Amino acid sequence: MKIQPARRIVGEVSVPGDKSISHRAAMLSALGTGRAAISNFATSEDCASTLRCLSQLGVHIERDHTNVIIEGVGLQGLRPSTAPLDCGNSGSTMRMLAGVLAGQDFVSVLTGDESLSLRPMKRIIEPLERMGARISSESGHAPLRIEGRKQLKAIHYEMAVASAQVKSCILLAGLNAGGGTEVIEPQGATRDHTERMLRWLGVPIKSRVIEGGGIKSEAITIEYGKQFKAKDGAVPGDISSAAFFIAATAMLPGSTLEIKGVGLNPTRKAVIPALRALGVEAQLDFIERDGDWYEEDFLEPFGNISVRGGAGLAPLKEGESNVLRGPLIAQLIDELPILAVLGSQVIGGIEIRDAAELRVKESDRIRATVENLRAMGAEVIEHEDGLTIPERTNLHGARLDAHGDHRIAMAFSIAALISEGESEIIGAECVSVSFPNFFELLESVVER
Ligand code: S3P
Repeated sequence: MKIQPARRIVGEVSVPGDKSISHRAAMLSALGTGRAAISNFATSEDCASTLRCLSQLGVHIERDHTNVIIEGVGLQGLRPSTAPLDCGNSGSTMRMLAGVLAGQDFVSVLTGDESLSLRPMKRIIEPLERMGARISSESGHAPLRIEGRKQLKAIHYEMAVASAQVKSCILLAGLNAGGGTEVIEPQGATRDHTERMLRWLGVPIKSRVIEGGGIKSEAITIEYGKQFKAKDGAVPGDISSAAFFIAATAMLPGSTLEIKGVGLNPTRKAVIPALRALGVEAQLDFIERDGDWYEEDFLEPFGNISVRGGAGLAPLKEGESNVLRGPLIAQLIDELPILAVLGSQVIGGIEIRDAAELRVKESDRIRATVENLRAMGAEVIEHEDGLTIPERTNLHGARLDAHGDHRIAMAFSIAALISEGESEIIGAECVSVSFPNFFELLESVVER
């Protein structure tokens, strides 16, 4: 994909349905009873992988673009698949489905593409084995052979990494453990879509804060296992996809963009204050009810985001706000590559730390971001757990490698818009993993 610089961005867009919420809506509708109609379902290839795996497990699914109808089979109603379940590039599909399959009385095999086969799976194998499933793997990597059982054991599990996929995997398995399963998040709260959706479906679930040793942890418990009815719902737009448009608008002076109907879940919208702290003018128009966020389907709040291109980006609080680190990182994890690109345009640059998890995403996102920013002329210091860009740099066009990673492809397509001269993104087609119409939508609001 060849990309020319842009003058500004003007207009209004809607981004595709949220990928994280769509995965969960598909899996939980399948485990419910009755029929669920889900609208604005994510167009991402990852979510198509989830639907394909569920069909292979005997779930009847009808799909018309973003409208999906799922016939729930109940907590114990899945049927063994004759063929392996191919999760494609999707970590969420593999990790969360493993939690579902641990509680089914049959054997399943989960496979993935080259990138997914390199990603760590011990983080789910260990808790699921403690719950009573038997799992074999290639030294902690896919393919995973899961021998599930009907009645799992409830566990109390303190997660070693901040991961919503691991938390969700355990909670989904907990549905077949008769209740009492508790997950503790000591490294900071991660996205809570699973908890919200379970609550919305009527599964008794409790969250509480545990304090000790100066650390605040969140503990989430399924109080007791309960069959629930599947429910219809509309998925809000994906804020992680919107982030690329927000950053592009912010970096091009004279730009204005409105993004409609975006999910504004508090555990997902940390990118907005992080951008504001770097001088970005972004306004959230959320729908209010009784002085609080209006929560729609799946108990997910949503609203519109308006962004204005600033004259110059600079941290509002000197020396402080251009450092991103600590528990906040878990809630910014998918936005860090585009925040690094934006950071290269901020006076004083940006520093991102405590983000070693980025090395085990769809690509090593620290390496990929550092390499591509350097190719565009930025000075970047690489750390094991992040990167530092010491100063604002005028970027120049370059040949940039997407590393087969959708978020790297999109982050550097945005970098190309603000650079001097043409850029080329190698392997740009991987954007379809989360955002198939990314380039068309971007072109519809770019002025050159
Ligand atoms: C996701 C959680 C995050 C995120 C991924 C989607 C989810 O992964 O990077 O894109 O839907 O739960 P981890 O929870 O493993 O950090």
